[in-house]
Amino acid sequence: EKGGFPHFMLKEIFEQPECLRNCMRGRVVSRTVETRVMTDGDDTTCKTETEMGVVLSSITDHRQQLLNAKRIIIVACGTSWHAGLIGKQMIENYCRIPVEVEYASEFRYRNPVVTKDDVVIAISQSGETADTLAAIKLAKESGAFIYGICNSIGSSIARETDTGTYIHVGPEIGVASTKAFTGQVTVLILLALAIGKEKGTISENDYQKITEQLWNIPAKMKEVLKLNNKIADLSRTFTYARNFIYLGRGFQYPVALEGALKLKEISYIHAEGYPAAEMKHGPIALIDSDMPVVVIATHNFMYEKVLSNIQEIKARQGRVIAIVSKGDETISKIADEVIELPETLECLEPLLATIPLQLLAYHVAVCKGKNVDQPRNLAKSVTVE
Ligand code: F6R
Repeated sequence: EKGGFPHFMLKEIFEQPECLRNCMRGRVVSRTVETRVMTDGDDTTCKTETEMGVVLSSITDHRQQLLNAKRIIIVACGTSWHAGLIGKQMIENYCRIPVEVEYASEFRYRNPVVTKDDVVIAISQSGETADTLAAIKLAKESGAFIYGICNSIGSSIARETDTGTYIHVGPEIGVASTKAFTGQVTVLILLALAIGKEKGTISENDYQKITEQLWNIPAKMKEVLKLNNKIADLSRTFTYARNFIYLGRGFQYPVALEGALKLKEISYIHAEGYPAAEMKHGPIALIDSDMPVVVIATHNFMYEKVLSNIQEIKARQGRVIAIVSKGDETISKIADEVIELPETLECLEPLLATIPLQLLAYHVAVCKGKNVDQPRNLAKSVTVE
């Protein structure tokens, strides 16, 4: 049942390309468009082009509520909350709707301001998380429209919502969430594209480019998975560590949080994720030759700034594991370990950058002899507070 893999977690990491195909099936569609082009004289020829688009039935069915949302509040816990942080950036960029991302446990006890013009998105793999369920019940009382992003079909949260989108990644057995995270991020990207298109807040060019590149992500994920052996090797050299820092900016900041959570959960090494620029405001004091720092430093508009963070870490003898874009020559020279990712659009990079961090956590935990599928003190669904 583990499909030849030693653990469910590794199997589920490797399933991700297939899972995302399933998640996008019937939602990312292509159609052929014929346009008549005038040539010399009265002659016309036909030009055929393929256009890609996103179709989400939840949006077709609840257009009014979703397009008129004054604000979106995302409620979730743990890894699902990290996916929400990526969703916030996508939705704000492309739908121009303000988004707040809340820990469900804090939201439900805070007497939050919620109105009927709000859309609350609940993200939950299991669909049974007690705090997330309570948060949507509370939001419902204020008349907000509730949208669920779940994996388990027919789960309590799925039933409590007004509409939603299943991530369709199949059952996740490993306690540490892997394929559910990339599935949640994919659905949030689809949601942002679909709402942005309907509202006219995304340019046609961005809409086409992102949709096409998203469709190509599973193939690129397969390339990233080929790094498994390399990551297994380098993981062996980091089992000594008692602490890890993870840094990323923009779309990669939630990935840093997620990488740190994965390592904590299964290897029991203390790890913290930070937005890279926050390093100067405290965590830099922790850096010495014993401190591994995982930095996501792909080629995007923050590249130079993240590069200078790496230089600051190296100046203090920290050990840098850098996740870079293929062909990077600058960081490769200064980092201790370099993991190269295929190029994609910046907003889609989390789907690729997450994979080496999942593998790193997995291999470090295996090297330490830990039970990766059932880490101590953790349950797959947290149905009590
Ligand atoms: C982390 C992990 C947890 C869950 C959290 C929410 O690997 O599995 O942090 O993400 O308990 O669970 P769901 O998504 O089922 O609501």
